[in-house]
Parts: sequence; C-alpha cells; structure tokens
Amino acid sequence: MKKVLQIWPLILNKIETSNVKETYFFDFSDNKDETCALQISKGTCQFIDGVPENYTIKITVETKDWISILSKEQLIEDVIADGKLTIEGDDKKLTKFEQYFSGDPDCLQFKSSNYVMTENEKELEEGKWTKPRKILALIGSPRKDRGATTMVYSFLKQGLDDCDCEIDTIYLADLENKTCKGCFTCWNGKDKKCVYSDDVNDLILKIPTYDLLILAAPVYIDGLPGALKNFIDRMLCLLAPEFIIKDDHCRHPSRYPRMPHLLLVSTCGFTEFDNFSPMIEHVEEICKNMHFSYIGEVLPPTAWLMTVPNLQPLYLPVIEAIKQAGKDIFTSGKISEDLYKQITKPILSRGQIFAFYNRDL
Ligand SMILES: Cc1cc2nc3c(=O)[nH]c(=O)nc-3n(C[C@H](O)[C@H](O)[C@H](O)COP(=O)(O)O)c2cc1C
Repeated sequence: MKKVLQIWPLILNKIETSNVKETYFFDFSDNKDETCALQISKGTCQFIDGVPENYTIKITVETKDWISILSKEQLIEDVIADGKLTIEGDDKKLTKFEQYFSGDPDCLQFKSSNYVMTENEKELEEGKWTKPRKILALIGSPRKDRGATTMVYSFLKQGLDDCDCEIDTIYLADLENKTCKGCFTCWNGKDKKCVYSDDVNDLILKIPTYDLLILAAPVYIDGLPGALKNFIDRMLCLLAPEFIIKDDHCRHPSRYPRMPHLLLVSTCGFTEFDNFSPMIEHVEEICKNMHFSYIGEVLPPTAWLMTVPNLQPLYLPVIEAIKQAGKDIFTSGKISEDLYKQITKPILSRGQIFAFYNRDL
C-alpha cells in the first residue's frame, strides 16, 4: 500500500488544498510495516514513511479495503458503515480525501487556452492560407507508378506543376520502413531519437520543413495500407511526451512550431463513395494527433477504371477537375464544392461497373 500512497502527493489538488493543513495517518491493521502518512500543507503534500509526529486523522483499515476505496470499488461511507474502517479524529475530513487527491480534475493548467497551436493550425483556424512552397507527396500504394493512386496523384501534380512550388514525390515502397517497436526511446532515451536510422527516420525528421503533405494511398480493407500506417506510427518522434488538452481532447504537443497542412488523395476498388469514410475519419484524427492541418481530399471512387485505356476518355472531366484541384489547393488551400462534386461523380453506374469487372476487364 505504501507503494501507492508514496505517489499520491503527485495528484494533490493544489487549488482545493491551498488552505488545508491536515495529516492523514494510515494504520493498516493487516500489515504494520505499511504504516505511513500523507501530510498536506497549503497546496503541497509530503509522504511520511512510518508513524507521523502528529496527525489530524488516523485511519485504521485493512489494505484490501483501502485499495478498494482508491480504485472506487467501494465508497468510503460504505466501508465505514460496514465497520471495516475506523477513524480517530474528524471523520468529515476523510470524506474530503478524494477531493484533495483529485489531481487537476478540470485539467485547468492544460486547457486549450494554454495550448500553443502550431503555426499551420493557427492559420487554418484563422482562415489564412500561405501558398505552399515545399510539398511532400508520399505515395503509399505498393504498386507505385503502375497503380491508380499514382495516376490520380499525377493529375493533381500536373495542376501543381504550373504553380510556383517544389514537389518531392516519394514512394513509400522504395524506403526501408521498419515497424515501430514501441520502445519510446524517441521520448525517453538519452538523445530523444528513434532507435532506427533507416530511410523512414530521415524522411520523418524532414516533414516539419514541408508546407504541404500530400498523403496518397489506396483503401486497403477499409483503411490505410499497412506500410503507410507503419510510417505514421514512426511519426511519434515528432511529438513531445506530455499530455495537453486540445479541443477538449487529450493530445501530445508538437515538438516543432510548424507542421505541414495535409491533403488526402485516395482510390478505392468498390463502387460506393462511403468506402472512403473510415479512411477520411482516420486521417482527420491523425491530423489532430500530429498537428497537421487537414485541408481536404481528392477521392475519385473506382479510379482504377481510369487506368483502363478504353474507358479513360469518359474520365476526362474528372481528370481535368483533379488538375484544377491541384491549382486551387496551391492558391487557396481549398477545393470548391463544384470541383469536389466533379471529382467524386460516379461516371459509370454500379450495374455497368459490375458487368465490366466480372467479365475481367
Ligand atoms: C489488400 C487490398 C485490400 C483492399 N481493400 C479494399 C477495400 O476495403 N475497399 C475498397 O473499396 N477497395 C479495396 N481494395 C482495392 C483498392 O483500393 C483499389 O484497387 C485501388 O485502386 C488500388 O490502388 P493502386 O492501384 O494505387 O494500388 C483493396 C486492394 C487490396 C490490394
């Protein structure tokens, strides 16, 4: 039990106890070696190993019952009523114990108002847009330039090529991409660096130098392809090991003052647009976690049909819309509603696609 109470001073509610002076003396009837005390004095608390010189309240209880109180399996009042806990001193003070050791219940110190947004998050919130000078396009399709994802991206890039920006296109499949082993060395190690020094680590450390990250990946079983998720997990080293509240959600702060904006490009095999839904939601959440600012998406469904030479002429309006999206993203950071509709418009009906597909195009 001592082991637990030793760290209880860390969760002292400093506001609630700013005027409190109490010493809680714990006499564990089943194990006298565990005798200890918590001494609260005006917003500070000290753990005392053994019997304190003086105390305001003495609690005699069995270890298991005190554990069940701390783990909220039992209420203090019920344990007292059952005669399993006896108090010497003012018993009203014991009922305050939970309140005194409630940490920072409203996370006041960590509230959004104290959270320093990254520059890109701030810009997006204020509706400001700075034309991206440096763009990283990360292609997560293992089929690289033979795939539909790269084809869609290449149309977008044609639009961006007319703009004043520098684009680095990287195929994830070309990189040595080790799986994060969860060792937290990038947080807790001496140098705060990832244990791996592979291609992915080099690239990840460059991410904050880009203004825009284009994440282009096909839908694989309702989400991101595994290798790309691997890559994203490795990005933990861009965050700091601390809890903050951002939009009423627990997050880690960015280690960098600026992160890139993010645009999602994807393709899927199935015919309904909602095949993108889990991926959109996931990537939006990744952006909140990683402090990327999500600016939108280019998601033509069944884009693989565009790779069929006989069908490509039908997709020319979609292709032109994707090129235009590249230009618009550069100048305004947005894709208009009309353009979005043109990109996502199903050109062939489900019946037509099924008939083509099942005859092995
Ligand atoms: C392993 C695997 C899983 C897939 N899962 C889905 C899926 O859940 N939903 C879907 O619509 N398409 C799915 N597809 C189809 C791909 O999204 C589609 O073929 C896409 O165009 C492939 O892009 P690429 O040519 O750039 O590799 C899957 C493909 C593969 C290889």
